[in-house]
Amino acid sequence: MTATVDLEARPGSMAGSRYGEHTTRIARLNAASLRRVIEPDADVPGHIGDGAVVPRELMAVADLDLDLTDEQWVKLGREELAAVVDSGIRFETLLMSGFAELIAYAERMDDERIVYMLHEIGEETRHSRLFVRLIRQLGPEAVNPFARRLPNLVFRTVSRNLIHRPAPLCILVLAGEEIPDLLQKKMADHPATDGFIRDVSRYHRMEEARHLAFARTVLPELWERAGPVDRVLVRRVLPTVVRTMFDGLVHPGVYRTVGLPGWATWRAVAASPSRVALRHEATRPVLAALLAAGVLSPGRVPVGWRRLCGVGTDGEPTTA
Ligand SMILES: [Fe+2]
Ligand SMILES: [Fe+2]
Repeated sequence: MTATVDLEARPGSMAGSRYGEHTTRIARLNAASLRRVIEPDADVPGHIGDGAVVPRELMAVADLDLDLTDEQWVKLGREELAAVVDSGIRFETLLMSGFAELIAYAERMDDERIVYMLHEIGEETRHSRLFVRLIRQLGPEAVNPFARRLPNLVFRTVSRNLIHRPAPLCILVLAGEEIPDLLQKKMADHPATDGFIRDVSRYHRMEEARHLAFARTVLPELWERAGPVDRVLVRRVLPTVVRTMFDGLVHPGVYRTVGLPGWATWRAVAASPSRVALRHEATRPVLAALLAAGVLSPGRVPVGWRRLCGVGTDGEPTTA
């Protein structure tokens, strides 16, 4: 089966004729998605091992000098990983909701962008099913305080308001894919990571690379149509949302499973040097995409983005 490639952006399509080059690029992504459809239940079989799943230096608590038994380190590693994977499912399903809405209200359906979003939704549902499998194998016990009533209400309110705004959605997609991409790269490259987790990381990163390419391609188109509220949200609010996303990957309940104080450990992790460095490293490609798309301008990077990414007004790193 080969992709049907329409290289011309059509008048009235999501893109408009100015973006023919983007359409060509997206048509190539469609062809790549079709070339090999990976069904994780059949193509990524396997099982997480019983012991440590991630090396201590890659754990959120790496800098905290904790006095834990080997058994507690194993437990904490598994709980941390389960929490990150849980966040991944929530993120992917919000992405799918946002894309589904974009498709439902599009001006036309005969556009490569529509085809690609359908491919991406298909790929994300397969990733999320694999993630559910991982969580079942890890068997976490942690209770997530962010899933309780009030924090959950805030999460729902903020996410529902953002996902039907195409430009902010696209930037959240970039952030939500760059952050796990870096985590998974570090896990896939480390010999002490569980072998199955390394396989999963490689498979997921391969498909996410296309998703990132799509988001970077359509961002200038979506930004051109962004309204004043979208623009304020992107400049002033999204850095806080992305920071919350990053710090929320491992929730305080994880630390309680090995007898540590939940919130105090969570705050110490968020401020720890390796975690701050990881946040900077993971979010700088998002900022680079915003600068490349003309969403933000060098010399005028808003303070929230500067703090999130550890950069100056021109977007250049201020820390190593
Ligand atoms: Fe994914
Ligand atoms: Fe993705």
